[in-house]
Amino acid sequence: MFENLKLQPEDKIMALMSLFRADERKEKIDLGVGVYKNNNGQTPIMSAVQKAAIILNDTQKTKSYVGLSGNLGFIDNVSQLVLADVVAKNQVVGAQAPGGTGAFHQLLLLIRSIGDDKQVWISSPSWPNHAAILKHLGIPFNTYSYFDYETCEVNFSRMMSDLEKTNSGDVLLLHGCCHNPTGANLSLEHWKELTKFCEKKNILPLVDLAYQGFGDGINDDVKGLRYMASNLQELCIGISCSKNFGLYRDRVGAALMVVSDKKNQKLVEENLKSFNRVTFSFPPDYGASLVEIILGGNNSKNNELIHIWENELNSMRNGMLELRKSLSASLRLSTKSTRFDFIERHRGMFSLMGLSSDQVTRLREEFGIYMVGDSRINIAGLNKDQIDYFSSSIASII
Ligand SMILES: Cc1ncc(COP(=O)(O)O)c(C=O)c1O
Repeated sequence: MFENLKLQPEDKIMALMSLFRADERKEKIDLGVGVYKNNNGQTPIMSAVQKAAIILNDTQKTKSYVGLSGNLGFIDNVSQLVLADVVAKNQVVGAQAPGGTGAFHQLLLLIRSIGDDKQVWISSPSWPNHAAILKHLGIPFNTYSYFDYETCEVNFSRMMSDLEKTNSGDVLLLHGCCHNPTGANLSLEHWKELTKFCEKKNILPLVDLAYQGFGDGINDDVKGLRYMASNLQELCIGISCSKNFGLYRDRVGAALMVVSDKKNQKLVEENLKSFNRVTFSFPPDYGASLVEIILGGNNSKNNELIHIWENELNSMRNGMLELRKSLSASLRLSTKSTRFDFIERHRGMFSLMGLSSDQVTRLREEFGIYMVGDSRINIAGLNKDQIDYFSSSIASII
């Protein structure tokens, strides 16, 4: 019977990882996979996470199931981290999910149940899993212009002109910060304009927030989202704690909804629970409990851990900003041009380099430099000593 299965498209990043592992060149550089690495090429367990694990181990009394919405202390703490106090607590409904991917999936199940007359609008380009999950769930979607390949910045006027084609009730998917794959981000003014637009056209924003703290700062990265959340009646947010807590494999995420209408809050809550029940039942607790402890939840003895975590996240971000600066300067010298200055302006782990697929292949084959086919690089994949080699390799293929 299994012969009736169709081969699924290969995940390009996984394929790139296998090629990289098989490459025996010493100077090879992996800029493909979207995982933070320090200057030694490691993805360390954050020390706040290690300390929280000790507390959890000492204090947790049972491994029995938690509720279908997951750990409510965790939900409260991440809501506070993301929204601060811009939305009244009783207007935020949330449920835990396995990672940001799980949160996105559960929010889409909810959106699909609202009615089948709506389209989800995603940026071009976007994180490839957005389109893949939408397709898998049979939800109609369309794309809006976002990245300008000439300037390597957001083309906001083209974006807005594409969004004129939306219909009342459609869903607008936005990246909360640190756009993946481009690295080009919306300004606060853009968020304000989009807020007005969503209100006027009755568009529901769905914000994917996977990199809070990786751009300009823990609070700065969500200024736009907070503005939107405090000015609209309804909004969905998919949160991932994979990157900013380094909890990738523990699958920590949350689906948060701003729901102003009291009657609808219960409806949303019960629907999120029921979607969890039929998808994976109870969400995984371990990583969420660690985040709860770090952010000052019930099990936390003091607020020391949140400061340790903030300092660690700040130094990860500052390291990436330093790399952006040095890489930009080095490319300026090696290419004798300002073509790659945008790297310093971009934020987050990624930048889209604006190279052709032939150029990406040449970099891999001739120089052992691995990046995704659309020329997305993971800045954190570089270490300081590799910058000049990377820049001179780029200069020789453009
Ligand atoms: C834009 C975006 N959303 C969501 C995710 C999901 O992350 P996870 O499911 O690992 O928490 C990622 C991870 O790469 C991402 O880049």
